[in-house]
Amino acid sequence: MAPLPAWRDLADLLAVAAPDDDALAAPWRRGNEGAVWFSRGAWALAALVRWWQDGRDRPARLWLPDYFCDASSTGARDNGAELVFYPVGEDLQPRWPVLRALARSAPPDLFAVVHYFGQAADGHAARAFCAETGALMIEDAAHVTAPAPGIGVYGDFVLYCPHKTLAVPDGAVLLVRDRSRAAALTRAGAGPGHGAPAAAPWLARRLVQKCLPAALLKARVRLTGPAFGDDPPVRVLAPTPALSRVARRTLTRVRDKLAAARRQRRRNEETLRRACDGRAGYRPFFASAPDAPYRFVLDCADGGEDRFLALRRRGCPAETWPDLPPEVLAEPERHAAAVALRRRLVFLPVHQSVAPRHLSDWLI
Ligand SMILES: Cc1ncc(COP(=O)(O)O)c(C=O)c1O
Repeated sequence: MAPLPAWRDLADLLAVAAPDDDALAAPWRRGNEGAVWFSRGAWALAALVRWWQDGRDRPARLWLPDYFCDASSTGARDNGAELVFYPVGEDLQPRWPVLRALARSAPPDLFAVVHYFGQAADGHAARAFCAETGALMIEDAAHVTAPAPGIGVYGDFVLYCPHKTLAVPDGAVLLVRDRSRAAALTRAGAGPGHGAPAAAPWLARRLVQKCLPAALLKARVRLTGPAFGDDPPVRVLAPTPALSRVARRTLTRVRDKLAAARRQRRRNEETLRRACDGRAGYRPFFASAPDAPYRFVLDCADGGEDRFLALRRRGCPAETWPDLPPEVLAEPERHAAAVALRRRLVFLPVHQSVAPRHLSDWLI
């Protein structure tokens, strides 16, 4: 599911001089935002919580959509946030009337809206909601390769996770609109852990993937892989919030390729979209390709399991949404759309290292 580094980029790792945080974030910044780097997006959310709580005597009330990975919220949870999972509809947009009713008794301090799979959320509506409730707005662009129309313009904070979209071992950047807050956020971010993740396991995995023949990788997908309904085992968030040195250098090299990666992802998305045309049960979730697609999202309204298994048998590393937070699972009626989407949506890779011939093999 992850893009592979080019040999050239790996060879250049030692030669590259890494720029400072703001300069490193240049492709993601739209204006004069401050940039605070982390190893993972989960640590950026934790830093926001710690920063907000500093000097206040109550937990930060962080609102996240209910269609959200449990693993991604653990950093915020462990740092004392009061998490509220607000309901999204089956279109993945916040259900604003329900949110407004919820906010009457306990409004958010920090409100996150997610640009799912690279598709812009309604940032304008989210901004209006934050103005009404007094919340600070986080645009969660973890799935977005690079700024696109309607993405990265509304939030007080914008979160990108280049480690998900580029061939780098770790790396997430929090853009801070009011840059006077950036230094305190950097301090808050350094608090809960020690240092950065080791990059060697990532390097070793990617080297093996680059060297193995495609047929072997396909066989691995066929034989291994999660069962459709299984949540992955609970994994503790490693206490390594900082960006690693290897990631800083790799990012310096590969961020120039961001525009090309985004174009390739769109082409791949559109190839899969065309391959679905007229095929029963293969309905694209989005009406048109997102500007900066993260995955190709199939909407299997009749239940995704058959499609998921068929794709994996053909060697496609199809995925499902990994898990949902326990608060959401405990109230399935209140979070009906999130629970339904967890079983309905199947994701196919469209990243820049997928060979176009594989795309058509998967959907023949
Ligand atoms: C919407 C969203 N936000 C944030 C994150 C956190 O990302 P990370 O894996 O970098 O901690 C994820 C992770 O998948 C996500 O899906």
